[in-house]
Amino acid sequence: MLIRGPKILTLLTNLKASFTIIDGMLDLVQIAKTVEPMRVYGRVAVVNGLLIEAKGGLSYMQVGARCEILRRNEEPLPVEVVGFREDRALMMPFGPVEGVTPGAEIRISAEGSKVFPTTAWLGRIVDSFGNAIDSHGPLPQGPEGYLLKAAPPAAHTRARVGERLNLGVRAMDVFTTCCRGQRLGVFAGSGVGKSVLLSMLAREATCDAVVVGLIGERGREVREFIEETLGPEGLKRAIVVVATSDEPALKRRQAAYMTLALAEFLRDQGLEVLCLMDSVTRFAMAQREIGLATGEPPTTKGYTPTCFAELPKLLERAGPGPVLADGTQAGPITALFTVLVDGDDHNEPIADAVRGILDGHIVMSRNIAERGRFPAIDVLKSISRTMPECQTIPEREVVRQARKVLSAYSNMEELIRIGAYRTGADPDVDRAIQLNPAVEEFLRQGKDEYTPLDESFTLLAEILSQA
Ligand SMILES: Nc1ncnc2c1ncn2[C@@H]1O[C@H](COP(=O)(O)OP(=O)(O)OP(=O)(O)O)[C@@H](O)[C@H]1O
Ligand SMILES: [Mg+2]
Repeated sequence: MLIRGPKILTLLTNLKASFTIIDGMLDLVQIAKTVEPMRVYGRVAVVNGLLIEAKGGLSYMQVGARCEILRRNEEPLPVEVVGFREDRALMMPFGPVEGVTPGAEIRISAEGSKVFPTTAWLGRIVDSFGNAIDSHGPLPQGPEGYLLKAAPPAAHTRARVGERLNLGVRAMDVFTTCCRGQRLGVFAGSGVGKSVLLSMLAREATCDAVVVGLIGERGREVREFIEETLGPEGLKRAIVVVATSDEPALKRRQAAYMTLALAEFLRDQGLEVLCLMDSVTRFAMAQREIGLATGEPPTTKGYTPTCFAELPKLLERAGPGPVLADGTQAGPITALFTVLVDGDDHNEPIADAVRGILDGHIVMSRNIAERGRFPAIDVLKSISRTMPECQTIPEREVVRQARKVLSAYSNMEELIRIGAYRTGADPDVDRAIQLNPAVEEFLRQGKDEYTPLDESFTLLAEILSQA
């Protein structure tokens, strides 16, 4: 069935312009405005697990388009086109497939999904469709739509990474100084302290707005994270996007796209944006589920080729802003993505792929967490690729010396612990033994503690001058 609403509207508007006074023409224009835009319907052919095959209307579909399957006694089921096979379209649902019948009508729309945010969304919690899931009622809708799956800005239009950003976490500010528009990965096994670290940044980092994407989190943890770890202060300047682990893969994947779309919107409002995603591994896992269901071949650890193709498209959306249509440069999106390293294997395929895409990585280690030093950042293994340029020469010297102390100590740690090291054997190790407790204390930081970046450098320089 085809109703060409927009065409009728254009025709009537043109006619009205040519014949200035035609009685009733205005009414007709008004009526045409209420006609739905073009609608094409397909039909359900096969439902196989989470994969729905559709026939009809294929020429109006495209991969990524949002459609709706009409159900008899229930709300229409939103689905997304994920591929095509011969004369069928392959779709996946955003919810349970109960109630879908053979031959059910599918309302096709050729457009990708959009979100219409406003700055009133700050302080709110939304799902992967941009619907409020807190208790403060529906969200106001903005005038401009942001594509959920927008393309990253073209490389030649992007600004360079800007000046440094105060994160408020000593170990990061000093050893992996982050610049505006930089994208960092936080790599850690489960329970090592990724979420707590992100919440510290959400509360303390110097920025105007924060978008937090909780992708594939445990349902129990979400409230805990928002109410306790993030707290009302942190939430005030944040939009939190949530898709828990029990939600369908498409919703989990879309929550990651939503997080970036909201960050792009806030950036376009001229705000300094920090985008935090916990975790990008769960995004890759959702993509793996989708890929496998559509018949893609599994590669390492079952991840399909699209997982590795989608990662850069997602992560590259953060970073320095592009030149806008009016010739001005859009602001940057500084981003931190957590990567859950399965079984503490830092070379697993997603960790490897993400490390290659981002501008630096922060490694958190289970050994350090077990010793009770939080945040459990292993500064010797962490790097920020933009760091030397954003530090002064004296600051670089402080970092170099501190690294030397930490590495001398870690090389001899076993010997020192069993008492096999004799003082005087190596002056560097002697100095490291003397300074190590103070440096460890410097790296230790409570959840609610905050130290400005400049003060962190001064503190560390003081420690190093003691020996
Ligand atoms: N800065 C800190 N100070 C004190 N304790 C901390 C700190 N950071 C983390 N912890 C402790 O580590 C625990 C695990 O932290 P968190 O939930 O952030 O880990 P995670 O890496 O996000 O885990 P998962 O992989 O399960 O999501 C916390 O419950 C808390 O007890
Ligand atoms: Mg966590």
